Amino acid sequence: MPSPEPVQMPTPSMPLKPVRTLAVTGGKGGVGKSSVSVNLGIALADLGRRALLLDADLGLANVDVLLGLSPRRTLADLVAGRCGLEDVLVEGPGGLLIVPAASGRRHMAELRPAEHAGLVHMFDELQRELDVMLIDTAAGITDSVLTFCQAAQDTLVVVCDEPASITDAYALIKVLCRERGVDRVQVVANMVRGASEGRALYDKLARVCERFIGDVSLNYLGAVPQCDWLRMSVQRQQAVVRAYPGSPSARALVEIARRAARWQAPPAPRGHVEFFVERMLRQGAPA
Ligand SMILES: Nc1ncnc2c1ncn2[C@@H]1O[C@H](COP(=O)(O)OP(=O)(O)OP(=O)(O)O)[C@@H](O)[C@H]1O
Ligand SMILES: [Mg+2]
Repeated sequence: MPSPEPVQMPTPSMPLKPVRTLAVTGGKGGVGKSSVSVNLGIALADLGRRALLLDADLGLANVDVLLGLSPRRTLADLVAGRCGLEDVLVEGPGGLLIVPAASGRRHMAELRPAEHAGLVHMFDELQRELDVMLIDTAAGITDSVLTFCQAAQDTLVVVCDEPASITDAYALIKVLCRERGVDRVQVVANMVRGASEGRALYDKLARVCERFIGDVSLNYLGAVPQCDWLRMSVQRQQAVVRAYPGSPSARALVEIARRAARWQAPPAPRGHVEFFVERMLRQGAPA
């Protein structure tokens, strides 16, 4: 009988597989970007995906707080050159890898555009097999938010059924499309009272984007209901998919993760600041 093939570990001569990258954003503060990011990351890890979550809310980070982690090192140490990216990584629930940011370091919230691009390129150093990377962005339409969205293959916009959330999501999508060449956006409706409210909210946003922006296609990923279990899980510093897996919000988030796991990669790098662009180029073909 032939002896089994040895397990091949990636070496410098063996290119790492391309990584699917998804920025979670929304324009308005408090719409659920971090909750969606954290739960989606854990749900993707539970589906067997090697997942990494970057806390890109550089000034007011809170992925670590949502998960009750106390990281020793953060992105602030990386940017200051005090450590490498591997030193900042921490393992969260289900094996989800997390790159925590620092909270209350004003200089991190005020990085220059070249420094944001530099941060994106630091991920090229990472010698790990990954399937997917999520990027939890800050609120607003700052250069930081726009650069992280532009650097990801897909942008997921979280929107709630209130006028300020819809107008902010629209404004963000317009700027991403006009200034950063983003031409497709995934949408999650959060804190809705039912499936039909989620769908109606998506339709409302899609109509205004189609009418006033034009060159952008929106795709509805689903809705997360307004759910006290999610609020309680935040209090307990746990992800709702772990603390209350049977709750309506946890079930909805797992369903969204299943949909996200089935995505097709975009055809090729777009030729600007992008995460893991070296892996994409070296591989030649999308995953
Ligand atoms: N589906 C939901 N049901 C009930 N409460 C929710 C839901 N989603 C979010 N929340 C509540 O809203 C709060 C804010 O959520 P989260 O921190 O995820 O928003 P954010 O958009 O990341 O905020 P920021 O703009 O400050 O980064 C949470 O602490 C939670 O209490
Ligand atoms: Mg947040």
